[in-house]
Amino acid sequence: MTTSRSILVAGNWKMNHTVSDGLQFYERLLADIPELNTSVEAVICPPTIGLDGATSILEDSPVMVGAQTMEYRESGAYTGETAPNMLTDLGVSHVILGHSERREYYNETDDTVALKAEAALKHNLIPMVCVGESQEQRDQGLTDKVIENQVKQGLARLSTALPNLTDLVLAYEPIWAIGTGKTCDATEANRVCGHVRAIVAKLFGNEAAQQIRVLYGGSVNPGNAEELFGQADIDGGLVGGASLKVDSYIALLEAALKNAPTPCSV
Ligand code: PGA
Repeated sequence: MTTSRSILVAGNWKMNHTVSDGLQFYERLLADIPELNTSVEAVICPPTIGLDGATSILEDSPVMVGAQTMEYRESGAYTGETAPNMLTDLGVSHVILGHSERREYYNETDDTVALKAEAALKHNLIPMVCVGESQEQRDQGLTDKVIENQVKQGLARLSTALPNLTDLVLAYEPIWAIGTGKTCDATEANRVCGHVRAIVAKLFGNEAAQQIRVLYGGSVNPGNAEELFGQADIDGGLVGGASLKVDSYIALLEAALKNAPTPCSV
């Protein structure tokens, strides 16, 4: 392993698990979780209604809590939305932005992603900005261009003037691989994650790009996680289906631990 970036295993529960299901999950997780060294980070992103319970029960644990979306405005007449400070008030540390399902069903655009990413960092929330091409775009050879546009536009309001810029996380999630069981080949996933990093380097410089984590997402499971997390430019996973069961999520953490840089390496 040539980098000291820690591996992040983020579970995106989407619209699954009631609040009580979630609490049972956390109890079992805390009972069985392997010891995480500083090189592996665990984040669970339950539905918004489950955030309060999650942060209460996980407060003194190594497991962090993320939201699946957020509004960028501070407060006001935005029915149904959740403001950044409502998340930080609960102890939420991460927020997924621009997930392809938000883009497809809820009109999330690169412009709103940019506003949200800026708001998140200003509130000391770690944005996990998702990008990814459709099957059609891949078939047309447009993958790299689509990713470049999404990264550039989604990060358009960020700059090296933000002291916590390198907290930013990106997730390469090819749409055709999400929830389909059709995982992107590890070499190709690594190539595109490297492409994402190269775009980040052009935007913010090489040093920042070496610190910013780039995750892969799309049908990650205990069977393929070790290979994916072992790739040089893949710094962990954004995982849907395989994060819903405790045993499976723990297996993902174990795969990360096998690939993690030793805590002291620089
Ligand atoms: P999946 O979802 O792991 O179920 O494919 C990943 C995601 O949408 O973040």
